[in-house]
Amino acid sequence: MPNERQGPNQVLAAVRIRPAVADDLARLVDVYNHYVADTHVTFDTRTFSVAERRAWFEAFADQGAHRLLVADKDGQCIGYASSHAFRAKPAYASSVETTVYLDPKVVGQGVGSTLYEALLQILKSEPSVHRALAGVALPNPASARLHERLGFQPVGTFREVGFKFGRYHDVRWYQRDVSSPNPSMSGAKVYDTERLVVREFCLEDGEFLLRLLNDPGFRANLGDKGVRTLDDAHDYLRKGPLASYREFEFGLWRVELRDGTLIGMCGVLKRPALQHPDVGYAFLSEYCGQGYAIEAARGSLEFATSKLNLGRIAAIVSPDNKRSIHLLQKLGMSHETMVRLPGEDSSVMLWETALPLPRHEG
Ligand SMILES: CC(C)(COP(=O)(O)OP(=O)(O)OC[C@H]1O[C@@H](n2cnc3c(N)ncnc32)[C@H](O)[C@@H]1OP(=O)(O)O)[C@@H](O)C(=O)NCCC(=O)NCCS
Repeated sequence: MPNERQGPNQVLAAVRIRPAVADDLARLVDVYNHYVADTHVTFDTRTFSVAERRAWFEAFADQGAHRLLVADKDGQCIGYASSHAFRAKPAYASSVETTVYLDPKVVGQGVGSTLYEALLQILKSEPSVHRALAGVALPNPASARLHERLGFQPVGTFREVGFKFGRYHDVRWYQRDVSSPNPSMSGAKVYDTERLVVREFCLEDGEFLLRLLNDPGFRANLGDKGVRTLDDAHDYLRKGPLASYREFEFGLWRVELRDGTLIGMCGVLKRPALQHPDVGYAFLSEYCGQGYAIEAARGSLEFATSKLNLGRIAAIVSPDNKRSIHLLQKLGMSHETMVRLPGEDSSVMLWETALPLPRHEG
């Protein structure tokens, strides 16, 4: 391979890095099959048909931790770099395994570096990813060099763990920090009350969100958000609370007991369809009926008054949700009218109050 190394050339200038699309799959299979059939750099030993490789392709997405980028030259895919699940157990979700394969006709011309660097940039801006890990079957001087120049640290070598073409191969593992300095990972405290601490959500709250949004009480009163998997929950967090923090510096926050037990969410939302921001809350069924919701909601209204300088706040509630209506009455809010939010089948009650709230006793 060293002899095939060429100097800088026109190939790189004509290369565009982009997310893979379904039409690329056949080319990606071709590129990979070359390394399966003729080299030890992958430990697959049998080439793939396009159909066999479809499930692999479909595990990638244009957002989140698992990405597939291609190097495109004149509309032809000449290589790819990918990040996929490192191991299946959930606590490994913040680590991805990365890899890169080029058409053998274009190796040694800087395409691998450009492609891999683009993948690492994306992973760095993706808050759910913390570590990139890569295994290099030895010998593979181009890949070893590529990883080292892109900031991967060698962490150790498994000796003779793969047997291909009549001999054992070692695998050297590398890892690289791809964590982003994203404040939404911090779970920063927003306010506390006598029994509760209210913090910003972070992506690590995905498991809790999954539970809360599928709690029977939540589904009955606030509807089915269609969040079924941890990936769905991360998506909900990204597009909901985390996007709201970025845009407005407020949103729905997570509510925990003083011992750290997560019990619900509460906070202030800004919906385009409503004139005023509204207070929202939802708690796991087992923590309802203990006064936590009103304690958290009062805290949100105080925050809206003192930190957000709001003079008025709304709330929306389904007319069947007697418990929540009772809470809004206790907060001192008044039923104004019925509203139908865009995309919803039925109308909800709109409640409002001026801020600050009159001082409540006890
Ligand atoms: C590994 C691979 C992706 C590297 O991409 P590439 O475009 O060939 O590499 P680049 O031209 O970007 O060079 C990256 C670095 O490796 C060095 N390099 C490239 N080919 C080399 C070779 N054959 N021997 C030693 N170093 C080599 C380059 O000099 C450069 O380092 P530098 O910046 O310090 O000079 C590519 O060669 C490939 O697809 N190989 C087969 C598949 C593979 O091994 N994938 C990795 C599985 S772990």
